[in-house]
Amino acid sequence: MTRGRFITLEGGEGVGKSTQARLLAEALEARGIQTVLTREPGGSEGAEAIRGLLLSGAADRWSVRAEALLFAAARADHAERTILPAVEAGKWVICDRFLDSSRAYQGVGGVLSDEDILTLHRIGSGGLLPDRTLLLALPLDESSERAGARDAGAVDRIGGRDAEFHRDVAESFRRFAAAEPARFRDIDASGSMETVRDRLLAALADWLR
Ligand code: TMP
Repeated sequence: MTRGRFITLEGGEGVGKSTQARLLAEALEARGIQTVLTREPGGSEGAEAIRGLLLSGAADRWSVRAEALLFAAARADHAERTILPAVEAGKWVICDRFLDSSRAYQGVGGVLSDEDILTLHRIGSGGLLPDRTLLLALPLDESSERAGARDAGAVDRIGGRDAEFHRDVAESFRRFAAAEPARFRDIDASGSMETVRDRLLAALADWLR
């Protein structure tokens, strides 16, 4: 049995990751590829329970350290119970956010270094990395407008942080992509849903022959 592929979609709030993860999974299925569509935080029973702890409650419910550990714990369960079994069974896993979101979001503010977050990931998930990461990007005013329309005033604990925080997150994602060009592909997330989906497929074209 050949190993499947592990593909992550990353980016800030409101860039269309969840919609595109679904469209991409559908397009791959239509090509006869068995896919598993999943997300973080979540993607396994235990990790979905941790998601509830992470995303609800007061903004200061968790310290940065506790929050990073909870994300790492959720990821460990998700990797072990959902991602790895699927990839080992030859399926393609499409995951809406993964490790790079922890590096970008929990890395803001300087409490934890990138090295710290990678260490938590090594302990929790054996350092599992995606085969490819598709980084969706929009100008920040456009993405916050889309996120605002989507959430209709009901933002979660983390999405609701201020514009400066989200600027730092976007900048971190850009830095990660520049540092690891073999894994990352930059995707322009502007335009129609179908246009963006076709850009994602083009970024996987070398695997689709
Ligand atoms: P979502 O809006 O994509 O469902 O993600 C939930 C929120 O969790 C979003 O604001 C990003 C945040 N997040 C982190 O802060 N660290 C992580 O590791 C992940 C996966 C998500």
